[in-house]
Amino acid sequence: MKKTISHTSEIQSYDSLNELSLEFQDLVSQAKLALKSSYAPYSGFSVASAVLLKNGKVILGSNQENIAYPSGLCAERVALFSAGTNFPEVEIETIAIVAKSKHGNVTDPVTPCGACRQVMIEIESNQSKPITVIMMGNEGTVWVSQSVNNLIPFYFSSPHVGRDS
Ligand code: THU
Repeated sequence: MKKTISHTSEIQSYDSLNELSLEFQDLVSQAKLALKSSYAPYSGFSVASAVLLKNGKVILGSNQENIAYPSGLCAERVALFSAGTNFPEVEIETIAIVAKSKHGNVTDPVTPCGACRQVMIEIESNQSKPITVIMMGNEGTVWVSQSVNNLIPFYFSSPHVGRDS
């Protein structure tokens, strides 16, 4: 019997960063500063992220490319893995993602790639509260998702893959 399994997603869209709470604006500002540390000589597309932890600490990440292209890593995973390394027991409240390009203004929100979403959903699933995801370019529209779940329907997870807990 054929069934339809549907998944609905919702995000909030804002015309400008000023419409966000001061706490969110501050996190985006920190991400923007972290764009300076991006190493993106191949794409010319710099991405940075700022992860706010429940203990108030902010962990930054920026994309790090390599001449052997797949060896590089996205800004989101740089920050998320750093948070996991330095604060393994602390929940993540919010991640802000920003970008700029040497090819022109990025006015559309930058949404995380599939691999980063998969990493984000596992972190979210392992903690008690959803993670807020703030997405923007270097100016203009800002998207806010109240949960990673909105960004990765039908993500990979299986009880048949062994894990310790
Ligand atoms: N990139 C990120 O760091 N995060 C994203 O969400 C999308 C893409 C990086 C990877 C690569 O260094 C550059 O942006 C162009 O794809």
